[in-house]
Amino acid sequence: MSRSDFSSSRRAFLRNVGAGTSALGVLAPGALLLPSVSQAACEPPGTPGSARPWRADCRPIRPRRPASTLTAAEVQKLKVAYAAMRALSVSDPDDPRGFTHQANIHCWFCSVSTSPVHGNWQFFAWHRAYLYFHERILGKLINDSEFRLPYWDWEISTHRKMPSAYTSPDNSTNPLWNGTRAMSPADELPDEDVNEDVMEPVYSAANFGEFGGGVSYSGIPEGSPHGSVHVDVGGWAGDMGAFDTAGRDPIFYAHHANVDKLWSDWNKGASSHENPSDATFLNLNWSFYDENKVWRSIKASQLLNHETQLRYNYGLSRFREILPCILDWIIVRPPWRFDRAVVVEPKFRDQIMKALDERRPVRMHINHPQIPLDKSAVYRVYADPKEAEADAGPKSPAFLGVIPVVLNSREKHHPPKAPQVVLNVSHRIANLLRSPEGMRLAFVERPSKKEKVERKVQLLSARDVYFSYGETMRE
Ligand code: C2O
Repeated sequence: MSRSDFSSSRRAFLRNVGAGTSALGVLAPGALLLPSVSQAACEPPGTPGSARPWRADCRPIRPRRPASTLTAAEVQKLKVAYAAMRALSVSDPDDPRGFTHQANIHCWFCSVSTSPVHGNWQFFAWHRAYLYFHERILGKLINDSEFRLPYWDWEISTHRKMPSAYTSPDNSTNPLWNGTRAMSPADELPDEDVNEDVMEPVYSAANFGEFGGGVSYSGIPEGSPHGSVHVDVGGWAGDMGAFDTAGRDPIFYAHHANVDKLWSDWNKGASSHENPSDATFLNLNWSFYDENKVWRSIKASQLLNHETQLRYNYGLSRFREILPCILDWIIVRPPWRFDRAVVVEPKFRDQIMKALDERRPVRMHINHPQIPLDKSAVYRVYADPKEAEADAGPKSPAFLGVIPVVLNSREKHHPPKAPQVVLNVSHRIANLLRSPEGMRLAFVERPSKKEKVERKVQLLSARDVYFSYGETMRE
């Protein structure tokens, strides 16, 4: 079926579903029934070639704030904005500002487009642009140029539950609700997915390649924590659990506002935390419909300063709270062959031990880990297969961290890539290094409450495993 056949049958379907729902701006529970046919309706978001350039934004600069700090009135506003966006999908299925279209933008760019926005350096810039246009549309629908998206600051230990606006009420009368989540309102994200051990290698990533990736590889945070939170919220089967459907859960946008804040925080963290100056990167460009339905193209270079260019900022960076000083990373990369067991020769071991004695952070890099890429999951990595079998998580002395996998689409148009894995192993590595047999890396899928997992411990191989330790820069 051609694209236009498809669109018209979809439109007809949407009209039937939407019959009898109320108008824009009113909470419209009927509008929340997103038809499942949209699963396949992942069409190009516009007409390529016809985009007009994005114009300088003259709105006032306003903060994006943690979702947990919104006042009742602000929560109501957020709900009204999403209700309006959902209602638009029903009243005018062709309006590109409607919620279904908004969700499908993500679907298109991640699972159909020939230039996917995951697994490479487009990740942070593209998602910033996507959220920016989404935010402006929401603001327009409620007639408020000061509206900014909230963010879910899951790295804060008291904010591990989904923000209550998104779960209360926990049913379809709430436009921020989604019925496919694997997490219930009382559940918390597993600490091991978002705690300081995870955040430290992110905030202190040495360069943009480590932080944001390159032409054909992802940065550290795209895997962990970003991917883990997708899997935690969506599980295998829920919308957040695969990229083609993730945009259908409003919490996606709060999750990604926090991911965007990470980028902002990383940039602020050190003078060396610079974005690529490469013309190939700066000229990356994508097109989106704006709040007036005008198809606009925006370049990476127009997104790099979110405050002056996109008119929003974030509160203080937590970078300094976690890391007292700027770090440079010294790589310890012995000429070993990684063959299931990582045996660190005495000379290199002593080097790492000395760094630990000096209380320097130590990281373990796992390059191209061989993990299953056929489903969305979070894998726990241990330095000992017996410990992986017992699977006690962070309580195990051999626990090293997690590796998430998020499918691009459940139909697997594009298989996902293994993430760049850098684990903070400062607290555990001393004992593990002393073991004469070396470390035998193993992994096991973490079970979730909702979905039964057949536990199978597998040995982990990778192209390369090495260490690095932090040094205070003498600037
Ligand atoms: Cu485009 Cu969190 O995914």
